[in-house]
Amino acid sequence: MLTDKEIVLGVTGGIAAYKAPELVRMLMKDGARVTAVMTANAQRFVEPLPLSVLTKRPVFTDLFASEKPGSINHIEVADGADLLLVAPATANIIAKLAHGLADDALSTMALACRAPLLIAPAMNVNMYAHPATAENVEKLRSRGACFVGPEVGELACGWEGKGRLSDLDDVVEACHMALSPKDLKGKRVMVTAGPTREFFDPVRYISNRSSGKMGYAVARVARRRGADVCLITGPVALKPPPGVEIIKVTTARQMYTEALREAEKADIVVKASAVADYRPIAEVSQKIKKTSDNKLNIELTENPDIIATIGQKKKKQILVGFAAETSDLIKHAEVKLKEKNLDLIVANDVTRTDAGFDTDTNVVMIIDRNGRRAQWPRMTKTEVAYKLFDRILAMIARDQKRRKRSQDNSVND
Ligand code: PMT
Repeated sequence: MLTDKEIVLGVTGGIAAYKAPELVRMLMKDGARVTAVMTANAQRFVEPLPLSVLTKRPVFTDLFASEKPGSINHIEVADGADLLLVAPATANIIAKLAHGLADDALSTMALACRAPLLIAPAMNVNMYAHPATAENVEKLRSRGACFVGPEVGELACGWEGKGRLSDLDDVVEACHMALSPKDLKGKRVMVTAGPTREFFDPVRYISNRSSGKMGYAVARVARRRGADVCLITGPVALKPPPGVEIIKVTTARQMYTEALREAEKADIVVKASAVADYRPIAEVSQKIKKTSDNKLNIELTENPDIIATIGQKKKKQILVGFAAETSDLIKHAEVKLKEKNLDLIVANDVTRTDAGFDTDTNVVMIIDRNGRRAQWPRMTKTEVAYKLFDRILAMIARDQKRRKRSQDNSVND
């Protein structure tokens, strides 16, 4: 999360500057503290006041105005930053940053700032495509600056093409990427999410209430923390996390094929999907008509158990399952942990209104392969995902230590 991170938001003079207050709100919702610095042109599109009200801090607009006698604003702001985000960034500020010009509050502060630089450009398509801008972008990239967008779309100037400010949730995600520890770097993580659909005619299927939120949060956090991530997803209405390889499936048998292939390459497998245990034996090619006796019997057969199959084959991999229960949470979860040969199981009581299916929060009990249990308080699904990877990394570290000890012992023998 962005908790306690100091983000300095530089706002420059493009029409997308009107989105700055919403961006501030979203960053603060994720825990960040934000200081806004605005250029003179940015103030023609948005007043400093909303940014100051939202950030609960003064907005820096003037290089020479100082809140406290003896303090130098642009240096104090630069020194306190964990991240400098420029959004929207015009061609002008990109050129100034690339060439080290310092002639106003934002550009001077940026030159003094040693925090990572994240730039979200927004401008006319031809300005962005101009060789001067392209060279400046390249120059900044080569110095380690990160970019989010711009996107292709309709532009305020009437042109269509590459120049739109990225969606604000993508800008916020890029901040998370820039500020998260990369402790999963070098690891490949496979995640499954969402429901499966089991059709009995061309328009009807058996499924469940999974929205994919839990699995998508796991995939997003793994990527933020530096892992290579493959997300196998059932049909959901969520935007894929950036930087994650997506494999879309519909049925349990499709998920089985994809998951078994991908699991072979993975160091960590997290199965948060709600796979249908059964499917109709027959899938007829025409829509089933109403019957004269008002009854319809659908015969079902069992689907393959994906995680249990992965569990039979696994060697050094960490295998994490979820258990969705409506009664005897711990008892049922412990049986699944053992029978499916899992390293960890995340058990959630899906009768709760603040946990399980289609909620933004979850309340989970974690049980490991040694029977150790931990009840976690209600958290957002993203927070659950962060804590889950902390737990997985601790387990990997312990396994490595144990393997090393047994290697050392066998050498000594
Ligand atoms: O998607 P959301 O709306 O955010 O909801 C989240 C969730 C409730 C779906 C999630 O938190 C969760 O509990 N996922 C597991 C749901 C489930 O199928 O539980 P289960 O107890 O039936 O299965 C146990 C484990 O076996 C799961 O990891 C499941 O993916 C796996 N399984 C089950 C059946 C099957 N044929 N193959 C499997 O791999």
